[in-house]
Amino acid sequence: MKNHHHFPGSSPDSERITLRMEKIIIHGGKPLTGEIAVSGMKNAAVAIVLASVMTEDKCVIENLPRISDVDISLELLRARGVRVKFLNRTTVEIDSTVMDSELYGEDDLARKMRASYYLVGALLARFGKARVGCPGGCDFGARPIDQHIKGFEALGADVVMEPDVINASASDGLKGASVYMDVVSVGATINVMLAAVKADGVTVIENAAHEPHVVDTANFLNACGADISGAGTDTIKIKGVKQLHGVTYAIIPDMIEAGTFLILGAATGGRLKISNVIPKHLDSITAKLEEMGATIEQDDEAVTVSTTGPLSRVNIKTQPYPGFPTDMNPQMCVLMSLAQGVSTLTEGVWENRFRYVEELKRMGAKIKVEGRTATVEGVGALNAAQVRALDLRAGAAMIVAGLAAEGRTEIDEVHHIQRGYEDIIHKLESVGADIRMVSIPDNLFDKAN
Ligand code: EPU
Repeated sequence: MKNHHHFPGSSPDSERITLRMEKIIIHGGKPLTGEIAVSGMKNAAVAIVLASVMTEDKCVIENLPRISDVDISLELLRARGVRVKFLNRTTVEIDSTVMDSELYGEDDLARKMRASYYLVGALLARFGKARVGCPGGCDFGARPIDQHIKGFEALGADVVMEPDVINASASDGLKGASVYMDVVSVGATINVMLAAVKADGVTVIENAAHEPHVVDTANFLNACGADISGAGTDTIKIKGVKQLHGVTYAIIPDMIEAGTFLILGAATGGRLKISNVIPKHLDSITAKLEEMGATIEQDDEAVTVSTTGPLSRVNIKTQPYPGFPTDMNPQMCVLMSLAQGVSTLTEGVWENRFRYVEELKRMGAKIKVEGRTATVEGVGALNAAQVRALDLRAGAAMIVAGLAAEGRTEIDEVHHIQRGYEDIIHKLESVGADIRMVSIPDNLFDKAN
């Protein structure tokens, strides 16, 4: 996340999110064995939490991942007068019967994550206008939102980009339209879908993203009374409805969290069962793990990974779903480093997703990046080192590398990891990892002793 520490939040909760300074300490080199249950999907949760206000009613969201991006989403709603109440650890009730469209004092908060842009689609649908701080999120080069804006404009909204704020309004109401996406974009597909749900008439989104979180958001909205068909294909059709109503809805499991743990199992050479997953969502990942020589066993809601010897090289290009996910790029690069032979990893989604390579090189990896392709020479084993979590998935990759490497690895800037991995320390401890989180003053104390 860019400028993370420069934007203190507007409430005690967001300050807690901002100012927490922790690091992870790992003593790696042990095979991990056991079962890890995956949490709800981050990128579905942030969309569904923000979309829930379109119902003007009470929604109960289950299987909510307890991560800081979800905290920020809930905080963005609280800042506008929405009532948020946890019914248990992973179930939240969001009561948006009362919501103030004019309150927008949380611009700094919006900048702390990417998904705050969904509030634009949701507020446009509810109030016909939206004023939201510009989104932030992980830094992998330019992250334009031109396709979101193009879609809103096609539906009849005026969108004005102020330096730090997105201002959108549809004084004559939103009207269904045909929207062709110039690039396959998860965010733009979901955002235009949100805005179209209560528009007058039919909207057709062409060249839509297929990701499971697009489908989950559509399923949630349909459960609320929306009329969306085709989610998960190239063409999504939305017939505008007058009103939505509240529901109880459970978020799908996080395929990227699951994929990260599968790679961890293959990297550490034990036997890891990853449960509470939808195995189909993991096909692109398990196919590559098998190609590298790992053993994959599947049942209805779990995938188990084990290895019987060194892994072999592989070539991968990240692509929109159902291709190999870009959000698995850094973790896969760690596994390629541990394999035998020379692999290539081509990034097909983001302009610059290889910043983590410098950190991995500190652990002995041999990687050369040219443009969007990394050539990864397998080195068999990595060495422990002090590294940084430069973004969310890069941070996850450092954990995988640290658990695979013999010795003590320290990972700084772990707030990035906390944005998207629920309770990762306990989950990993439960399968035998020697990993702990220390706050920085504790850590200084630790070193002094
Ligand atoms: N793009 C445009 N114009 C737009 C929107 C996107 O040119 O208006 C381009 C982007 O520059 C990029 C490509 O389209 O090259 C795909 O971007 P997309 O819009 O799909 O990404 P996003 O919605 O901003 C989500 C996830 C990311 C994940 C990408 C791709 C959320 C909150 N974030 O981002 O997740 O990498 O889709 O799958 O859903 C993560 O979880 O670690 C993460 C970064």
